[in-house]
Amino acid sequence: MGIRIYITGSCDGLDTLRSALDAHPDIELVGWSEHVAEAAPVLTGGHLQCVLHATRASALPEVEIAAVREHTQAPLVVLASGEASSLLEQALDADIADVLLLPQLGDNVVFAIRKAAHAGRRLQAEGGHGRRGQILTVFSPKGGTGKTVTATNLAAAFAKYEKKRTLLLDLDLQFGDAAIMLGVEPEKTVYDLVVAPGELDTEKLAGYTTRHASGLDVLPAPLRPEDAELITEVKITRLLEVARESFDVIIVDTSPFFHGPMLATLDRTDELLVLCGLDVPTLKNVKLSLHTLDLLSFPDNKIKYVLNRANSKVGMKKSEVEQALGVNIDFEVPSDRAVPLAVNRGVPVVVADGGSDFTRAIRTMSKGLLLPTDGQKAKRRMFALARA
Ligand SMILES: Nc1ncnc2c1ncn2[C@@H]1O[C@H](COP(=O)(O)OP(=O)(O)O)[C@@H](O)[C@H]1O
Ligand SMILES: [Mg+2]
Repeated sequence: MGIRIYITGSCDGLDTLRSALDAHPDIELVGWSEHVAEAAPVLTGGHLQCVLHATRASALPEVEIAAVREHTQAPLVVLASGEASSLLEQALDADIADVLLLPQLGDNVVFAIRKAAHAGRRLQAEGGHGRRGQILTVFSPKGGTGKTVTATNLAAAFAKYEKKRTLLLDLDLQFGDAAIMLGVEPEKTVYDLVVAPGELDTEKLAGYTTRHASGLDVLPAPLRPEDAELITEVKITRLLEVARESFDVIIVDTSPFFHGPMLATLDRTDELLVLCGLDVPTLKNVKLSLHTLDLLSFPDNKIKYVLNRANSKVGMKKSEVEQALGVNIDFEVPSDRAVPLAVNRGVPVVVADGGSDFTRAIRTMSKGLLLPTDGQKAKRRMFALARA
């Protein structure tokens, strides 16, 4: 079976090259269209291993490339005829596998295609190219600040409203209560998963998670506090890596400690949500943990600050929290009577009461945390270029 390729655009010498590729035993030329828009269905569904885009321009055809990228993550090789020195320079910064100046021997082009397709396969195997789930860790150095309320509702919002494949992992290993807040009675926990024999993969992981009505999957904390010991750094590292392959978003609920599994989680965290409250002891402890995070070289730009019960009249304002911590609050969540009611009923507020202020705040947070998909990124680039 040949390497499945598709050609878009046009340039001098393309006809000759197309015939050569069409006749080549190692290549399966799925088709050609001058305009990217016409190629959209094949680019999206054609299982392409490489896309060639031909251009007569001397600069990188960024609009066309963004248009191709909107439909496929296949490696992209640019074919150019004419003066192309600036194109070569720009291609270095862009996501381009190779640039070939025509005319070229057919075999040279085939070699470049093979190389690009090979690199693309490797990236995919490593879970690259946007197929990696995003890990969001909810942390606060004090109990009762609302970590579990936030983690469960955020996860439910991702699953229910954003339609993301969402995993909620409860790493409050001794006293985790994420499952209880969700009202699920799981048969298996993270403990069963780590003590099970054999290598962990996505299929095995799916056998240990429990589906919640919102659509999220939860992997609860061990049922007995003493079982926490068996949940090691190595196991959590592997678990997160596997989870990234089958989930879009992984929310980790935590305890107030920097234990081994927590450190392993921090290493893989894309965004750390640090929960603050309007009280002095919490702020003191948040400040201490920011220092610890700094010692651990956790990057500042991955920290988002959440002020829970932001509307409480307790003699302290958001601005004072910001001043005390020397940071800006990114998200505010109001105190809402619906929360304790929902906790006791075992139904997340975002599911039970879609119109509440609390739900709105959680949904705003979920949208703010979501990484743009590659298609959205490509679209944004196109709009920016069109405006320029
Ligand atoms: N925004 C809120 N409004 C009202 N009650 C809240 C809010 N956030 C948390 N709570 C209450 O505080 C309690 C502790 O929250 P929880 O999420 O369990 O804290 P943590 O996980 O940080 O220990 C919950 O049972 C809940 O009833
Ligand atoms: Mg908790």
